[in-house]
Amino acid sequence: MDEAIGKQVDLHRNASLEKSGPRDILDLALNDPEYGKQATTSEIIDQMKTFWFAGNDTTSSVLCWVFVYLHRNPPALATLRKEIADVFGTKDVANQIIENPKLLNQLDYTLAVIRETLRLEPPAQMIRTTHEPYHVTTRSGNSYVIDKGTAILINSYQMARTENIWGKDALEFKPERFLAGNIPIAFMPFSKRPRDCIGTNLAYLEVQLRVVSRLILDADYSCFDDSKVSFHTGGGSLSGN
Ligand code: HEM
Repeated sequence: MDEAIGKQVDLHRNASLEKSGPRDILDLALNDPEYGKQATTSEIIDQMKTFWFAGNDTTSSVLCWVFVYLHRNPPALATLRKEIADVFGTKDVANQIIENPKLLNQLDYTLAVIRETLRLEPPAQMIRTTHEPYHVTTRSGNSYVIDKGTAILINSYQMARTENIWGKDALEFKPERFLAGNIPIAFMPFSKRPRDCIGTNLAYLEVQLRVVSRLILDADYSCFDDSKVSFHTGGGSLSGN
């Protein structure tokens, strides 16, 4: 993989000065006035691998879960389809989006479906390592000191299932909970600053576009054999410190 990406880096490095027209992420990195010139090829290869790893499995996993949950919740699927039809009709959807990408901002319920799926099935979990002893006080008032050098997993999968955050219906798929505003801080599928996911907006866009295109194109959406779907996921971790 390093060799294949390295070849691309060399090709883009040589071509990037003359290039006009569409630019990809390599062009952007190599043409960055501060970063582009001083970054070594091996560093850029690592950056590209991170984007590849961080941006692919995550988005495709959410997309799969969106369709699983919609399959299991026909009323949600019907509401979603109505919203998409109200905004786009059924013809020339791709062109409508190209001409006016802001149409996607009207898809409130679609976004809520994606958020609710991310809440229940976050594809990535966060790990932080303490650089000094870390004092924690829980809601019930107990205090703990976590030793320096301890890895802490922030378990967003479990947080999504906590009733005192989400209510008695925490386990249920209810996109409506995201329509009211006031999203609890425990919703953190993309982590929180200062080190949150750099691809958040792109991920929402990609999933939204795929959902719209599948549901518009597949007049008769149906799912696979439900009994073969495993609900025992917990996500993976993307980062260390
Ligand atoms: C639904 C899709 C996605 C989810 C749920 C997701 C989630 C996350 C999470 C939880 C982190 C860790 C942040 C932390 O350490 O606190 C992260 C980091 C990152 N994500 Fe995403 N992500 C998604 C899509 C993408 C996409 C589409 C891209 C770019 C094309 C991307 C690029 C990155 C990068 C570069 C990092 C930093 C990795 C590092 O710190 O080494 N992600 N993402």
